[in-house]
Amino acid sequence: MKATLDNTSPIQIETPCLVVGILEDAPLQGPAAAIDEASGGRLSRLIDSGDVEPDRNATTLLHGLPGVTAERILVVGGGQAKRFDRVRYLNMCLAAGKFLRGHAVTEAHVCLAELPVEAFDAGWRLRQCVFAIDHGNYVYVTTKPLKSDMPRPLAAASFHGGPELSEALDQGVALGAGSRTARELGNLPPNICTPAYLAQECTNLARSLENCSIEVLKRKQMAELGMDALLAVGQGSDHPARLVVLRYDGAGKDAQPYVLVGKGVTFDTGGISLKPRESMDEMKFDMCGAATVIGAFEACARMQLKVNLVTVVAAVENMPDGKAYRPGDVIGSMAGKTIEVLNTDAEGRLALCDALTYSRRFDPAAIIDVATLTGACVVALGHHASAVMTKHDDLAEELIQAGNTAVDRGWRLPLWEDYQSQLKTPFADMKNVGGMPAGAITAGCFLSKFTRDLRWAHVDIAGSAWKWNGNEGATGRPVGLLAQYLIDRQD
Ligand code: BES
Ligand code: MN
Ligand code: ZN
Repeated sequence: MKATLDNTSPIQIETPCLVVGILEDAPLQGPAAAIDEASGGRLSRLIDSGDVEPDRNATTLLHGLPGVTAERILVVGGGQAKRFDRVRYLNMCLAAGKFLRGHAVTEAHVCLAELPVEAFDAGWRLRQCVFAIDHGNYVYVTTKPLKSDMPRPLAAASFHGGPELSEALDQGVALGAGSRTARELGNLPPNICTPAYLAQECTNLARSLENCSIEVLKRKQMAELGMDALLAVGQGSDHPARLVVLRYDGAGKDAQPYVLVGKGVTFDTGGISLKPRESMDEMKFDMCGAATVIGAFEACARMQLKVNLVTVVAAVENMPDGKAYRPGDVIGSMAGKTIEVLNTDAEGRLALCDALTYSRRFDPAAIIDVATLTGACVVALGHHASAVMTKHDDLAEELIQAGNTAVDRGWRLPLWEDYQSQLKTPFADMKNVGGMPAGAITAGCFLSKFTRDLRWAHVDIAGSAWKWNGNEGATGRPVGLLAQYLIDRQD
């Protein structure tokens, strides 16, 4: 979707579809008020008669309004004015994006950022609007192309605003692109999106972006480094593991980089501890941690943020096989710690612990891993929040704040030492499962054993990474949170 700014008056702009927002129990404002006046009160009469609904996320398409140049007007409801906030604003923009994706028009002019939202400035409103329109406009076509009689997504959208908003526009476009990359990688089937495929996509990305470089480690190099835990996970797969290291230089040599580490299990059968057949297919999304740190990397590089960033992806497939690792195995790790594997389905933490140890060499300003790590996280927080775990209160605050700003929210779970005892075993330095209680936290505790003395946070996105009701697929979360965190880290 091509995105531009245009500050022509909403009543004079020539467009196949003009998009405006209205709220309940409040007078029409901005573009909606202008249209109402130009059309001799037509819009308010349609609202009064109930033909145009101001309810949350309601969409009504009007044709040929007198006094207005636009061919159509899409009126989007935001619900009650006094309860209108950032979350409702974003949902309203998303509703507009989804409507436009499903409609025959392929161009639109969007005037939603004119609505006041809490204390957010015009830049924030426009950026989030561009991001949401692009998000709503995404359609997965790679293995199921659109038929000729199906509506196309928008090819171009203009947004109401002058040149002073061009940075906000560019940021919205960058966020949209990063989120799209993450969703597309997440949605791809596991027979296409293998570890090698992920590495190749990262290579293409690094080549297409400025100030970026890439290194891809294969099995031999990983073995030399002692990444026994990561390699154990991939032992039963015909698709060899990869460790991908993407680097973006936006702050010069002396600045410590932020490091993002992603779980890239391209398919998680559970291994010998095989998962039940119900919804095993969803485990193609088990690389969404990787997909989103790649998407955040793309967004950061496209914005040319003044930070240094390293993105590390542990790409591996978890399969049962004669060569697969088994429950009871004691394996090593790059950090030199031994691990008793009691469940081969707790593989994400094994892949991540070596990726985290590897990342020490970058001397990170902060290191954040992102992973679809535990079913327990879904039980704890459902699908609306990503779980944030860290021993650093300031880092937790920064991440949760970034999530609030980006409307891509996180919620903290504790990582108290008290939980560590659940990982004790007589047979190794630790076991890879902590039993039923607090499964999301004990997974975090496991990782914390490899990140002592680092400024580290773990983000479990098992609930937020995809939606399986209907056909939504990968959500691209938490690209918004991560990108906002990096935006806020510039000096
Ligand atoms: N990828 C799964 C976690 C998962 C499950 C995410 C369902 C989203 C939905 C992870 O590898 C896993 O299997 N975790 C186990 C850990 C357990 C064996 C300690 C789990 O959550 O059941
Ligand atoms: Mn698993
Ligand atoms: Zn997994």
